[in-house]
Amino acid sequence: MSADKVFHSRSQGIPSEGVKDQYADGKAARVWKKYIGDSNQRTQNYKNFLTGLLKKHNCVKVLDAACGTGIDSMMLVDEGFKVVSVDASDKMLKHALKARWEKRKDHKYDEWIIEEASWETLPEDIQSFLPGATFDAVICLGNSFAHLLDEFEDQRTQKMCLRNFAKVLKPGGLLFIDHRNYDAMINSGATPGHSIYYNCSYPVDIKTSVLVVRGKPELVALDYLIHTNEDAELNEQSMFRLCYYPHELDKFTSMLDEAFDNKAEHSIYADFKALDQVENPAYYIHVMRKPLN
Ligand SMILES: C[S@@+](CC[C@H](N)C(=O)[O-])C[C@H]1O[C@@H](n2cnc3c(N)ncnc32)[C@H](O)[C@@H]1O
Repeated sequence: MSADKVFHSRSQGIPSEGVKDQYADGKAARVWKKYIGDSNQRTQNYKNFLTGLLKKHNCVKVLDAACGTGIDSMMLVDEGFKVVSVDASDKMLKHALKARWEKRKDHKYDEWIIEEASWETLPEDIQSFLPGATFDAVICLGNSFAHLLDEFEDQRTQKMCLRNFAKVLKPGGLLFIDHRNYDAMINSGATPGHSIYYNCSYPVDIKTSVLVVRGKPELVALDYLIHTNEDAELNEQSMFRLCYYPHELDKFTSMLDEAFDNKAEHSIYADFKALDQVENPAYYIHVMRKPLN
């Protein structure tokens, strides 16, 4: 039995039957921007790393495959990249669409495409609104990929989605994908206090639960409590649960290599720095370079 069947993996109050969107009740989506904190401070942590590699490899067309509220996409639009942003959650996309509307007088934003798409059907979804499109780079950042749980206990859906990322890349294109340091979370049962992605100005408590099914870590549930007491608009809506598949570094590394038929260049970073520079990273970031032929 998969973890999703023995653990209530979604915030209460929304129908779980057939619903995979953990943001569907709107609770996390409403406070997500507050949780991220100042957007410049957030993207400062990896802007040079990301844009530096993209420019080095002459990447222009970038797919943000988990755009959420649009934070990384906007940073890339500002830096002159042609960005297509997709997400499976309409509750999250609503915030990205609003952000684009607010930037409507800035011509850089005229060509920013925002559409609904799922990793599970990514090539077909993209085909429906941009026939024939492929990308110089795909990003899937902010610990997004771990949202995909292991329904069949053989990681087949995760493998298929990674292959879909590879499919929509041009030869020589780059995939940036990350995950929390689940090895540390499995060993300690806690979420590292520091984070490169979240700089919330309110106090945040994260309750970490690691679910082990038949001896195998199958799910990590994070219950977020954001103390927004002084913010009347957000009060009562600052608790939400998100569940993740706990990708261990060595297993995720092999799964990614397989998705590119073991032919891609694969570099791994710790909190966007060289692996040996960070002792206990909060995140691992993988950069895959699809072979030229
Ligand atoms: C943790 S949020 C991160 C969003 C953004 N990258 C950021 O860092 O703020 C994860 C996002 O992944 C999206 N997501 C989860 N499963 C997905 C799927 N199967 N296809 C597309 N997007 C998905 C969620 O809807 C959510 O917006």
